[in-house]
Amino acid sequence: MQTLEAIKKRRSVRRFTGAAVPREDLIRMVDAGRQAASGHNKQPWDFMIVTEGALIQEIAAQTSAWLGRAGAIIVLVVDPASRWWMEDGSAAAENILLAATDLGYGTCWFEGGMLAREEQFKAWLGIPQDRRILTFIPVGVPEEWPGDKPKKTLDEVVHWQRWGQKA
Ligand SMILES: Cc1cc2nc3c(=O)[nH]c(=O)nc-3n(C[C@H](O)[C@H](O)[C@H](O)COP(=O)(O)O)c2cc1C
Repeated sequence: MQTLEAIKKRRSVRRFTGAAVPREDLIRMVDAGRQAASGHNKQPWDFMIVTEGALIQEIAAQTSAWLGRAGAIIVLVVDPASRWWMEDGSAAAENILLAATDLGYGTCWFEGGMLAREEQFKAWLGIPQDRRILTFIPVGVPEEWPGDKPKKTLDEVVHWQRWGQKA
């Protein structure tokens, strides 16, 4: 798949078959994550790959039930001591989403259900106190590929030369 195809195909998938995701595919996803652009090349990230069923079920129980049918959950851990931790972590996350799409898996950036319990998750997963969890990325075989998501049109968001100039 070409890069632009994967970018267009990527959609948040929240319905998975429950099938396992092979370890080598997960490695390819986080390998894409670690290639991301990074301010001063600090690369303030770690990628925790959770594949154990019991751990996945526990995360689902603490957040949203649908995560329980993911084959894996990638926990994107960042070092907030680095000035661009959020930007760098977000770039890495998007690379992971695109790599997963390219490999035929569904993913979803999952933050809302995690943030409120971040400290609890950190303790439970053994993540050092001085790190942050940027997002959980459930990865799985999609039950179905979601339809088109409404996106702002190019005309709405593109400006040429000066703000508001449309051509
Ligand atoms: C910062 C961020 C946080 C998100 N948090 C959640 C979340 O907690 N739960 C969820 O189901 N989707 C979450 N999403 C996914 C968005 O809902 C989704 O990307 C958006 O609706 C656009 O749909 P698409 O990804 O299919 O293009 C999050 C996305 C981002 C970028």
